[in-house]
Amino acid sequence: MHVNTPNFEDFAESGQNCAMVAAMFFYPHSFTSKMAASTSGKMCQKCFFQILQKCSSKSSFFSNMLIRRFHKVSNTKLNVLKYRPNVVFVKKSQIRTFADDVDSKSRLLVLGIETSCDETGAAVVDGRGNVLGEALHSQKLVHLKHGGIVPSIAQQLHRDHIEEVVQGALDTANLRLQDVTAIAATVKPGLALCLQIGVEYAKKLVKQSGKPLIPVHHMEAHALTARMIENIEFPFLVFLLSGGHCLLAVARGVGDFLLLGSTTDEAPGVVFDQVARKLKLKHHPDCNTMSGGQAIEVLASQGDSQAFKLTVPMARYANCDFSFAGHKNQTYRLIDKMEKEEGIPADSDQIVSCVNDVAASFQRTATRHLMQRLHRAILYCQQRHIIPQDNKTLVLSGGVASNMYIRQSLQAVTDRFGYRLVCPPPRLCTDNGVMIAWAGMEWLKEGRGIAEDPEAVDFQPRCPLGVDMSTDVLNAGIKTTPKIKIPT
Ligand code: KG4
Ligand code: ZN
Repeated sequence: MHVNTPNFEDFAESGQNCAMVAAMFFYPHSFTSKMAASTSGKMCQKCFFQILQKCSSKSSFFSNMLIRRFHKVSNTKLNVLKYRPNVVFVKKSQIRTFADDVDSKSRLLVLGIETSCDETGAAVVDGRGNVLGEALHSQKLVHLKHGGIVPSIAQQLHRDHIEEVVQGALDTANLRLQDVTAIAATVKPGLALCLQIGVEYAKKLVKQSGKPLIPVHHMEAHALTARMIENIEFPFLVFLLSGGHCLLAVARGVGDFLLLGSTTDEAPGVVFDQVARKLKLKHHPDCNTMSGGQAIEVLASQGDSQAFKLTVPMARYANCDFSFAGHKNQTYRLIDKMEKEEGIPADSDQIVSCVNDVAASFQRTATRHLMQRLHRAILYCQQRHIIPQDNKTLVLSGGVASNMYIRQSLQAVTDRFGYRLVCPPPRLCTDNGVMIAWAGMEWLKEGRGIAEDPEAVDFQPRCPLGVDMSTDVLNAGIKTTPKIKIPT
């Protein structure tokens, strides 16, 4: 195997500092797991970042190889000193403190690509969470016309736009593909036809540039995005509410999640969209360009949420799972009834006069369901000592989390238990390239998650997040009384 060995000037000028760096730098092809012995994990990581940064602008092949090797040996002990007595060692006094590492980490650059559903997104972020460039093509309006996402149309739109979106992110960052340290792409979960476009495109870029590929779990990316904008330590509680997913989980670390509960049928975003369609909101002058969820929120703010009594789903199930299908059907029945009373044919464009009240009642009942599940999740974490008292944090994200009524109601729950509520700004709550780039960065910073064989990376339409704890939650038999009030 041919290796482009960087010259000594490159190394010296970068002010590098430890034996590990030297060994990796000068003897990359000898840097195997056999060398494993005693260097501490931290030192190892530190050197990794420095050399990776240095090499990424020189030889992508070289940096790629180092990453893979690092990946293999990162969990083993290293003793480079014993193994290579003839490498150039730098005196220990020259080793910088770990704090200095922030600089080397901040120089890492990850290009992220998102195509799991109906947004083609790309972005470049650095290790400090600065977004250097971003581009996004939304298919929302197209799908609105079709009354929902048609996978084949979504796929074609991703295909048509991915190149300009990725190039747009690089251009706004004023970077070339060659300048980034790694490429991250959503590989799971999502619509197969859509994931396929992003994964194939990312693989093409990897082949072209020799950069490492970091496969990303879409839901993990939603959860980790909050750490890009705020200082949030693991473990923390995560609540993800989107068009495709609904889950409560504990983030214990990068790639380390406990799944407390998830939806047993449909996701809230889809149900908001379907109810909006049933209410014919695309013909409503105030919200005909909005997503179903946004339209419901806008109309609900002008309605009476107690006008119609709807049943809160799963109120008697002592777990953290969700169900929205029954709630959708009872709302459908209500709309049918109101249309009949007003003499409105179901196939006309006419909207029921009590549309605001229906929207408000539907939204309130869905919110009650979310509040109850969150309430139980917090009590469960308390009972099992999962979240430390001094780190009580809930990250709320996903498209539905941009709904302010839902957000404020969930905040009433977090306030009650002294949790800090962190919601990424709306543009980061919905699907985007930044969240994928940042998730890739989180893995990269830990020196993990890089695909050993990028060509073999495949997409996975279904993939639960983390270890399933739902049975344990149920067995804990946690009651959620007294109810926490929805703020008015
Ligand atoms: O996270 P996201 O952009 O895409 C994924 O599903 O992954 O979420 C999109 C969903 C759509 O179903 C949309 O109707 C819903 O989020 N949504 C909302 C609001 N804004 C967007 N749902 C309720 N209230 C909103 N304000
Ligand atoms: Zn999403």
